[in-house]
Amino acid sequence: MKRIKIKELLEGSATEKEVTVKGWVKAFRSKRFIALNDGSTINNMQIVIDFEKFDEALLNNVTVAAAISVTGKLVESQGTGQNVEIQATALEILGEAHPDEVSKTILQPKRHTLEKLREQAHLRFRTNTFSAVFRVRHALAYAIHKYFNDKGFVYLHTPIVTGSDAEGAGEMFKVSTLDPKNPPKTEEGNIDYSQDFFGKETNLTVSGQLEAELGALALSEVYTFGPTFRAENSNTTRHLAEFWMIEPEVAFNDLNDNMDLAEDFLKYCITNVLENCADDLAFLETRLQDEEKSKPQDQRSEMGLIDKLKFITDNEFVRLTYTEAIDILRNSKPNKKKKFEYLIESWGADLQSEHERFLVEKKFKKPVILTNYPADIKAFYMRQDDELPEAKPGMEVGPTVSAMDVLFPGIGEIAGGSQREERYENLVKGIKKFGIEEETVWWYLETRKFGTVPHSGFGLGFERLVLFCTGMGNIRDVIPFPRTPNN
Ligand code: 4AD
Ligand code: MG
Repeated sequence: MKRIKIKELLEGSATEKEVTVKGWVKAFRSKRFIALNDGSTINNMQIVIDFEKFDEALLNNVTVAAAISVTGKLVESQGTGQNVEIQATALEILGEAHPDEVSKTILQPKRHTLEKLREQAHLRFRTNTFSAVFRVRHALAYAIHKYFNDKGFVYLHTPIVTGSDAEGAGEMFKVSTLDPKNPPKTEEGNIDYSQDFFGKETNLTVSGQLEAELGALALSEVYTFGPTFRAENSNTTRHLAEFWMIEPEVAFNDLNDNMDLAEDFLKYCITNVLENCADDLAFLETRLQDEEKSKPQDQRSEMGLIDKLKFITDNEFVRLTYTEAIDILRNSKPNKKKKFEYLIESWGADLQSEHERFLVEKKFKKPVILTNYPADIKAFYMRQDDELPEAKPGMEVGPTVSAMDVLFPGIGEIAGGSQREERYENLVKGIKKFGIEEETVWWYLETRKFGTVPHSGFGLGFERLVLFCTGMGNIRDVIPFPRTPNN
């Protein structure tokens, strides 16, 4: 018989018809009730066994983690906890799971630490927590494509191997087929990359933005959604060496349009999760509550998971300039009482996530978009502002760019972008200032010669969004196979 997914059966009503389900055993109570899960939902199907009708040796193999196929009648459930259950008429073991082996793994039905689950990454999809996380991750990916598709954006696949450093931060993984032990050398004694596979030095992309700009300057509205790689040695709960990024890029949009797009887009994605992942969110909400209980009182979050999601969908994002933010931070309690790890003393300071979170969680109690950052701490492609910002008393300011960072509670920066420098001369100046070799980005510069227009875009870190929507504490737990320093 054709298998029916457990989710489909649980959402329907009792049919009294014969059905077949397949999945993995979560529990077998009193030799009578099997809890079966097939990953289609967080909820299990209850299978009722009349043990007199089954071979004892067969039932002995119905152990936790074993894969089975069950055929039986779908009936209204006698017990509480589920609407329907299956009265088994046939049962087949598809794959055994020996209890002695299971007891050594995270498949053993008890609480395991997230560290332990990470060590057995190959098995963690089987746990309730991770199956919920990855269903939410899928729902978000789907919502992202749907959002842009419905708005007429073109999905652009930008290259993974590239010769440029889009962010100019030098955090790239090299790609080479040269023998590392004995690479060919130039007369000056440097590695001769002209003999390398691509005839030049190449690396894994840190962002698809520069290529997306080429697309936007012809197709008007494009977005990328692909893997990006950063060899930054940040061992934090918010950084991965391999992560996925969504980068919309829109011709004719200025910074304000860019902020409107980011706000609308993020609200759409989160609304979608609230509407379509109710069961998984309920489970993750409880998980988060349990985790919060184990923390000291003063470190507990005041918001539950659903509250946090509604905090985004129900609030208008506060928009303020970097200069205004520095003024607020400089005069804030944690700054004066030296509670921040990095104290804000002067204009020009790079903001840390503690500052971003202060603005969102304590000062405004709303999501925040910060704009017009100092040119020196942002990338070369950002549009140079024509005027200096208005200084606050006792503050020395410098030139700024039309940058924007979107800040969320618990996370800090979730997306970052800008209006792009569309003026050829200014862009060349920016490239020189940041010490970028012109020959690696000549193709990018060219676009400013042939019908250049104002345009804007941003990058959303996909895992940061999944982290936010699942209430997980560590970004390693929202990507199937995390790549981080030394791991
Ligand atoms: O702020 P970033 O570096 O911006 C860019 O790459 C631009 N090219 C985007 C654009 O304008 N098209 O990165 C964008 C986002 C960050 O806001 C953050 O959410 C995420 O990518 N991100 C990371 N996520 C996980 N691990 C890392 N190491 C990340 N670095 C950045
Ligand atoms: Mg950024």
